[in-house]
Amino acid sequence: MSKAVPPNPEALLHMLTRRSVPRLQDPAPCEDVLNKILSAALRSPDHMHLRPWRFLKISGNNRFHLGNLFVKHEKCRNRDAKQELLEHTKKKALRAPLIIVGISSYKEHPKVPKIEQSVSTGGVINNIGLAAYFSGFATIWRTGTYAYSDVVKNGLGVAEKEDIIGFLYIGTPSTQDIRPLEVPLGNYIAPWPN
Ligand SMILES: Cc1cc2nc3c(=O)[nH]c(=O)nc-3n(C[C@H](O)[C@H](O)[C@H](O)COP(=O)(O)O)c2cc1C
Repeated sequence: MSKAVPPNPEALLHMLTRRSVPRLQDPAPCEDVLNKILSAALRSPDHMHLRPWRFLKISGNNRFHLGNLFVKHEKCRNRDAKQELLEHTKKKALRAPLIIVGISSYKEHPKVPKIEQSVSTGGVINNIGLAAYFSGFATIWRTGTYAYSDVVKNGLGVAEKEDIIGFLYIGTPSTQDIRPLEVPLGNYIAPWPN
């Protein structure tokens, strides 16, 4: 049976100071560490344990295929796209050594609407980010227009009835000067009633 774990102020402090990092470099987590990160993240809350998700891992030269898909998408939505823009777009898949694509793969269930299944997948993506951070790495969750692109979905083998919830870029920060952000609690949390 599960019980409360001892207080862990360090974990809280890590959550408080976590920032997304837009530019990431090698190394990415090795397979063993990545598997631990993913196993921990997959313990995200999930109504009726439907596991309404799947994840793709893209690294190394396979990132070029993803870059090509981004370019194909860009060309489709803008036939006059300049070469410069296309070159820039192609490099977007190289912004980290590892990319995890989080996909909601919906299951029919009378008690679990699609929105809950998307939120669950998002919970796993968020947990991967936190678990990676706790393991000494950094991440950034991106969607851009790519997550909603039929061209990108097709190229990745994502079915029409599935959704890409995010691309999580994972690696080692290439900049050290990203400061923690304070979030004023009062702006978002209120007692009820009154
Ligand atoms: C669903 C979702 C989609 C996002 N898409 C993008 C994106 O396409 N590009 C981007 O720069 N940031 C995107 N972000 C925001 C970053 O992941 C990050 O939260 C933001 O840069 C703030 O940084 P912080 O996490 O350090 O506060 C997205 C976040 C979420 C939750």
